[in-house]
Amino acid sequence: MAISCDTLIHDVHLASCRPGLDGPGVIRDAVVALADGRIVHAGPASTADAFAAAERVDGAGGWLTPGLIDCHTHLVWAGNRSEEFERRLGGESYASISRGGGGILSTVRATREASEETLFDAAAARLARLREEGVTSVEIKSGYGLSTATEMKMLRVARRLGEAFPVTVRTTLLGAHALPEDYAGRADDYVDLVCSEMIPAACAEGLADAVDVYCEDIAFNLAQCERIFIAAQAHGLAIKAHAEQLSDMHGALLAARYGARSVDHLEYLSAEDVPDLAKSGCTAVLLPGAWYTLRETRLPPVTALRAAEVPMAVATDLNPGTSPIASILSAMNMACVLFGLTPAEALLGVTRHAAFALGLTSKGQIAADFDADLCLWSVTDPAELSYGMNLVRPTRIWQAGRDVAGG
Ligand code: NIG
Ligand code: FE
Repeated sequence: MAISCDTLIHDVHLASCRPGLDGPGVIRDAVVALADGRIVHAGPASTADAFAAAERVDGAGGWLTPGLIDCHTHLVWAGNRSEEFERRLGGESYASISRGGGGILSTVRATREASEETLFDAAAARLARLREEGVTSVEIKSGYGLSTATEMKMLRVARRLGEAFPVTVRTTLLGAHALPEDYAGRADDYVDLVCSEMIPAACAEGLADAVDVYCEDIAFNLAQCERIFIAAQAHGLAIKAHAEQLSDMHGALLAARYGARSVDHLEYLSAEDVPDLAKSGCTAVLLPGAWYTLRETRLPPVTALRAAEVPMAVATDLNPGTSPIASILSAMNMACVLFGLTPAEALLGVTRHAAFALGLTSKGQIAADFDADLCLWSVTDPAELSYGMNLVRPTRIWQAGRDVAGG
């Protein structure tokens, strides 16, 4: 007797992103059955007859991938930084603008003034750009509030986006993004505020899934980041770090020692630190959009990360300063062209490995029991997702088994 399911997708090839298969987990000539928001079966075309489906979808020989996961964004903010962009084009550096009270702090001023509604509307428009490219899960950081009230306002907006749209949102408290002006010269006191007020407040309201830090000489030092990791873990929150973006402070190793889910940026990570990173099991998140925007020259140690089998994720880092790029497909293209990833690695970077970076254990792969977050692409090879910029779109997107776009 046939097994009943909600949807059967037939005449498709899978870039399943499962481990142990070729490239991005290739399974040609497949069928996928969905029921109650989960994948119940992904197998050869010959198994189609085993299923009685309420709806049959003809994949027309296209490729099915997991729904894409953007595992590092700062997409809630107010204002814009085009004036700073022009200053950088004129030769000023990101670090000098930041030391002079611009950069992150200028977005902080605008974000503090903005109402929750204004922030929500602006963020929803950016999220729409990601969603149309097939993003079904997104991480959203705070970090443009730098006061307990505004950090919580940002996290509330992030949570509301996940309720309002068919997208899974993971929220991250990034109180330690920059030192606010009212704490100038008192970084340790500000870290006290993050540990003793922001983290408990975020926990009390259930607003954060993880805590992130910006470990950099223009931001927070190792001892300060360590205090934040300890406080986060005492509250049962996962940790992450922006590390080795502009200099090598060995922040990635510190975060890995504390069991971080991910360490992000990593251009200045030294190859000697890679084996310890590999042992820790944390994911390396590469952010080529920030590298491109800042016209950086130092490349992350991709060869060493690959050799040590550190899972590499790729994300947009969507933010108003260093990566005003609301396109996961462009991030994949840049990861290939600028950082030397293969298209298969770029696809794993926005699926299986991005899921690792967020602790989303039931996402990022096409396999039985995984969530039915899927994209159907009318392409002849999955490498086409990375090959162009803004060149393709999914023809269908399912989130939790529900068709949320296309037709
Ligand atoms: O991920 N590195 C720190 N934070 C952001 C930049 C944020 C900003 O400039 O507004 C990043 O690149
Ligand atoms: Fe970032």
